[in-house]
Amino acid sequence: MKTYQVDNEGFYGEFGGAYIPEILHRCVTELRESYLQVLESESFRQEFSSLLRDYVGRPSPLYLSRRLSEKYGCKIYLKREDLNHTGAHKINNAIGQVLLAKRMGKKRIIAETGAGQHGVATATVCALLGMECVVYMGKTDVERQHVNVERMKMLGAKVHPVTSGNMTLKDATNEAIRDWCCHPADTYYVIGSTVGPHPYPDMVARLQSVISEEIKKQLMEHEGRDYPDYLMACVGGGSNAAGTIYHYLDDERVKIVLAEAGGKGIDTPFSAATIHLGRLGIIHGSKTLVMQDEDGQIMEPYSISAGLDYPGIGPMHANLAAQRRATVLAVNDDEAIRAAYELTRLEGIIPALESAHVLGALPKMSFKPTDIVVLTVSGRGDKDLNTYLNYNLQ
Ligand SMILES: Cc1ncc(COP(=O)(O)O)c(C=O)c1O
Repeated sequence: MKTYQVDNEGFYGEFGGAYIPEILHRCVTELRESYLQVLESESFRQEFSSLLRDYVGRPSPLYLSRRLSEKYGCKIYLKREDLNHTGAHKINNAIGQVLLAKRMGKKRIIAETGAGQHGVATATVCALLGMECVVYMGKTDVERQHVNVERMKMLGAKVHPVTSGNMTLKDATNEAIRDWCCHPADTYYVIGSTVGPHPYPDMVARLQSVISEEIKKQLMEHEGRDYPDYLMACVGGGSNAAGTIYHYLDDERVKIVLAEAGGKGIDTPFSAATIHLGRLGIIHGSKTLVMQDEDGQIMEPYSISAGLDYPGIGPMHANLAAQRRATVLAVNDDEAIRAAYELTRLEGIIPALESAHVLGALPKMSFKPTDIVVLTVSGRGDKDLNTYLNYNLQ
């Protein structure tokens, strides 16, 4: 039987691994040797699950969206990660990794952030557990996600605006890695998605897998069966999607649909649709699909959404696409904005711009009336109100 899980060396098919500078070798090896032991220990599991329940507010609801279902001619359930404390799925991973960092004796936490949701989540957990926190964020994102910057500051984190490249997520990640190289002994780098060198993609997927664990139980209660016909999620680096599909990866009854950011269109120079446009390369320690020019230089991605404009993609997702286990659709800025308004007006839920991309994939699908669809709303749209209100839809 095919498996889509990671192997012992951190590869998903030909994607993944750990391509790191010598100076990080010790910390990545230390992490690799401790993460499974810690994540599977009873004391970690108890602390993690009680924080997810009492602090984050899990389980997040699985909500039958009646008016959206009517519109698309099937049964659509929304997995409401937007209702988590801090407003997105990112907190699941941040809690897990900061708990791990504490157990590894680290004192200082660093993180990169795009939309600011991972930065806010990490700053929140650092406040809760009394850890120093430094967040790298591209200057473009500092401007378009201003509210999240203020939240991080109030939580006690230091936010470093990054001015290299096009000043977005890739550049923030470069800076965080640079910091890590300078402080390898006392610093723990909390990566916010299923990217980076092994073991990060696997670790982040495991920490987010609570999403599909809950979907199984909740579908059983609602539908008397524990699997849907379709699972749908947006992909930036891939963490909310990984969490949504984790427990269904090898269940071929379930079709997986991923939405990446088309930007202004995949046939224009303004896109972040890495699975459509990328070629095999190495980015931030991982062998995966990378948007690059003919000389192998990484291209500047573009999306209206700060959380999706990354020129790489998690190795798990690159493999799912290569094996045709997942269907990947590119959803453009205007399609995402239209979909965000649609959900808001039909259901009274304002989604994050990132989540709006998977909603924008719905009109591209054709469902049967008996199909059960679970779509993850990865975050809420409060941080994106200015973008929504100022966008001129053609
Ligand atoms: C609400 C939300 N959804 C999705 C993403 C994309 O990240 P990932 O693909 O890791 O879920 C982000 C990233 O910032 C986000 O804030």
